[in-house]
Amino acid sequence: MFYKLAQKVMFQMDPEHAHNLAIGGLKVTGNSPLNCFYAQNIKPAPVTCMGVTFPNPVGLAAGMDKDGESIDAFYAMGFGHIEVGTVTPRPQPGNDKPRLYRLKPAKAIINRMGFNNKGVDNLVANLKAVKSDAKIGVNIGKNRDTPVEQGKDDYLICMEKVYMYCDYIAVNISSPNTPGLRAMQYGDLLDDLLSGLKEKQADLANQHGKYVPIALKIAPDLTNEEIESIATSLVKNNFDGAIATNTTLNRDGVSGLLNSNETGGLSGKPLNDLSTKVIKHLASCLNGQVPIIGVGGINSAENAMDKFDAGSEMVQIYTGFIYQGPKLIKDIVDLYRTK
Ligand SMILES: Cc1cc2nc3c(=O)[nH]c(=O)nc-3n(C[C@H](O)[C@H](O)[C@H](O)COP(=O)(O)O)c2cc1C
Repeated sequence: MFYKLAQKVMFQMDPEHAHNLAIGGLKVTGNSPLNCFYAQNIKPAPVTCMGVTFPNPVGLAAGMDKDGESIDAFYAMGFGHIEVGTVTPRPQPGNDKPRLYRLKPAKAIINRMGFNNKGVDNLVANLKAVKSDAKIGVNIGKNRDTPVEQGKDDYLICMEKVYMYCDYIAVNISSPNTPGLRAMQYGDLLDDLLSGLKEKQADLANQHGKYVPIALKIAPDLTNEEIESIATSLVKNNFDGAIATNTTLNRDGVSGLLNSNETGGLSGKPLNDLSTKVIKHLASCLNGQVPIIGVGGINSAENAMDKFDAGSEMVQIYTGFIYQGPKLIKDIVDLYRTK
């Protein structure tokens, strides 16, 4: 009820302005009695994935809380994990505005934010200030002005800095809004990145006596052969998880709609089937050797069940959460518990 009202007001505003207002509001209310407007009692549905036990399998996807400002508020809503970021070593403004568009009739969004974030040091300060028991993933990326060939260094810098303050690390090489980034999904660049990250993880685990799993986030715009090759690299490098998928460059199902011609990544309902297909193929290649977190277009509890059936151990939501509100978390967990 409260969400529907808030949504009505926010949908009258520019999308990015509404987003910033919401994150700001959640930041100041997250630990106050005012969180009663969105806090939910979610029944326990614990799941162990990548060696970490989460209170339920429904997470907030990366990009909503890029700087980790409102983690306690999202925890109060009942998310089983909150993936913050994408964060880069240095702060950067992202692409020119406007860069975020609603496609309301399709329950979709197009964004070309371009990793706007306040940098990894600011994120670490926010992670240190978290008061709740939230399970936190940190999604890491490279700065726009770091050449792709040196991209690995940016991931290593971020990994080292966030390692002690999160439950898993997500490696984002699948955003369509940083030029050249998706090239890291292929061949030697990918193998070199994955092996470098695993080496660093082993060093950090030794140093700190804590093992933090790392997952790779992939795009939905991959051929079956490309998915097979990524799966081979994941297994070969003993990667801890895969997150599938990011937004798509595809415009199937939205042509003719207002804003459908904007450049950027499409998310929400039109992405659902494509993302599920990628998860299914990835799962068949991985054969249970690497767990999958399924994301992309989940707009109902049934959509989430399809992601589990396709081979996901956990799911994440972003655009469906904007359109349906926190109740979507509860709906998914309730149905999952009946499985
Ligand atoms: C506005 C916006 C910003 C996003 N930013 C990021 C990001 O910084 N890093 C990332 O890995 N994914 C990002 N994503 C992708 C989401 O995490 C998710 O993978 C994608 O939107 C598909 O899920 P959905 O259909 O539930 O939204 C972003 C998505 C949106 C809509």
